[in-house]
Amino acid sequence: MAEVVHTPRVFSGIQPTNHLQLGNYLGAVKRFVEMQNSGIETVYCIVDLHAITVWQDPADLRVATRELAASYIASGLDPEKSILFNQSQVPAHTQLAWIFNCVARMGWLNRMTQFKDKAGKNRENASTGLFVYPNLMAADILVYHATHVPVGEDQKQHLELTRDIAAKFNNDFGVDFFPITEPVIEGVATRVMSLRDGTKKMSKSDPSDMSRINMTDDADTIAKKIRKAKTDPDALPSEAEGLEGRPEARNLVNIYAALAETTMESVLSDVGGKQFAEFKPMLAELAVEKLAPISLEMARLMEAPDEIDRILGRGAERANAIAQPILEQTYDIVGMIRSR
Ligand code: AMP
Ligand code: TRP
Repeated sequence: MAEVVHTPRVFSGIQPTNHLQLGNYLGAVKRFVEMQNSGIETVYCIVDLHAITVWQDPADLRVATRELAASYIASGLDPEKSILFNQSQVPAHTQLAWIFNCVARMGWLNRMTQFKDKAGKNRENASTGLFVYPNLMAADILVYHATHVPVGEDQKQHLELTRDIAAKFNNDFGVDFFPITEPVIEGVATRVMSLRDGTKKMSKSDPSDMSRINMTDDADTIAKKIRKAKTDPDALPSEAEGLEGRPEARNLVNIYAALAETTMESVLSDVGGKQFAEFKPMLAELAVEKLAPISLEMARLMEAPDEIDRILGRGAERANAIAQPILEQTYDIVGMIRSR
């Protein structure tokens, strides 16, 4: 069979749980904006159905969904250029996920490290949604025939599963229907680490607020968190090899490079030899310069929740127009009778 060439389309999603932190911004949202401006069609989703795989207070979920929409827009996502919406408004995601529940194998899901991490010791008490979460993620992507998915390093395994599901579906039904999606895990900031422990990922769910910079933090808070960030007593090296075995130092240089849109090498050639007492204020100044306008714009947008809801509703209509025909074709391939 002739290989079908899929038109390039970008899809990605973030869960509306807690505030967005710097790792989400540098590892995901900032790159979403770059891809939007590269001229490819871009679809960005707030994955509220993924969020409820662990308990969410309904009122908090509503706020977090609008806040994530506000941070997408404040970071430069243009709802005219990109399709911006929340997952639960497009039913095709869950409908395709059911088909994928029947394609993916127990053994594949049993290997997912995020499930093991999130379920913790008490696996018997984890929701069944948490277990099949990667099938819904595959449906999110494939219901748009997305070819490229920008994410941080931690999502690599889920994207491999998405590729396995697409390949098994195509193979089982003898079609070349779903694209084999490419993960886009690149840039200096695919893994931003905690400010308190350079070996742990910066995360929305870390109990210590000092471990992360939230996109809602004001200028003083950002500066304070950087001033208090853990470091070692040595001066900065002038080359990247000098950061070996110094995870906290590496992390701060990495954050600087990502914010300044340059490489670690170029940062080190400027700051090599400086002590942290001198480098930290430079980093704080840069972080405030780049992040404070975003948090200000977010706060402004959050004053108008109806406007945010309207944008999400319009995005959902556009998303639906792409997803529904792909779902219909999938049903047809699987052998479901559709009245026409
Ligand atoms: P999550 O907050 O887990 O829903 O993640 C949303 C997106 O941000 C995903 O693409 C993650 O890979 C990315 N991300 C989350 N934390 C980090 C981090 N510390 N460094 C880089 N990317 C991250
Ligand atoms: N699982 C992703 C995370 O935890 C969120 C997500 C859901 C996603 N569906 C997606 C990311 C589709 C990219 C594409 O960060």
